[in-house]
Amino acid sequence: MTTKMTVVPSHIAIVMDGNGRWAKKRFMPRLAGHKQGLEALRRCVHLCIERGVRVLTVFAFSSENWNRPEDEVSGLMNLLAGALTKEVPSLHAEGVQLRFVGERANLSEKVRNGFAQAEALTAGNDCLVLNICFNYGGRWDIVQAAARLAQEGKPITESSLSAAMALAHVPDPDLVIRTGAETRISNFLLWQSAYSEFYFSSALWPDFGAEQLDAAIADFAQRERRFGKTSEQITPTSGEQVSA
Ligand code: FPP
Repeated sequence: MTTKMTVVPSHIAIVMDGNGRWAKKRFMPRLAGHKQGLEALRRCVHLCIERGVRVLTVFAFSSENWNRPEDEVSGLMNLLAGALTKEVPSLHAEGVQLRFVGERANLSEKVRNGFAQAEALTAGNDCLVLNICFNYGGRWDIVQAAARLAQEGKPITESSLSAAMALAHVPDPDLVIRTGAETRISNFLLWQSAYSEFYFSSALWPDFGAEQLDAAIADFAQRERRFGKTSEQITPTSGEQVSA
């Protein structure tokens, strides 16, 4: 048997789109799709650990999602609150370091405390960093970083801005996946995805599993990442070599 070598992206970021359509196809309320979306996220965390991915960043609630119907917004908040209670202990046991990325000021005290507790509990874990972007927008991130530097009287440079961004604790994503057959960035990681590879999956997020993740990783492995250089200048490996 021959062993096939593949390049696994160190950092995968995902726009988890299609929960509403998944539910609609089944004549279920949209929230049922989000609940199934949470299951898919759980599954994806396991798969990423198995495949040697070091950082997973997911878009769970955008700055613009407040404009959704009130019952959907409160349903998502309740789902998050429930997940903080139910999911954090097992994620901790698996060595996942949780980070919540986004504006916290207009979230409830319960959610803010839940974020702080989950982050404190899992801070020492290094199996996988799971960044949950919640009340997040790429434009918000750039503005908050620039405003902070201005307030501190610091010059705004590419490196100072990068260091002030909400994802400064991890390298930029190698691969950005969007599910749900949409091909937009929707205000996700605008700054950090400058040199990311993009992969669009037609699967609705609740249906996203091993087959779909492996297809995305296999597609990534075929890409030549040049970071603005010529093909001849770059070394052949831009990620970790592992056997698959
Ligand atoms: C986009 O699908 C999905 C969201 C706005 C929410 C994502 C949330 C989860 C996956 C649940 C788990 C997250 C936490 C931590 C609570 P959509 O509703 O826009 O789908 P549609 O395009 O089919 O309508």
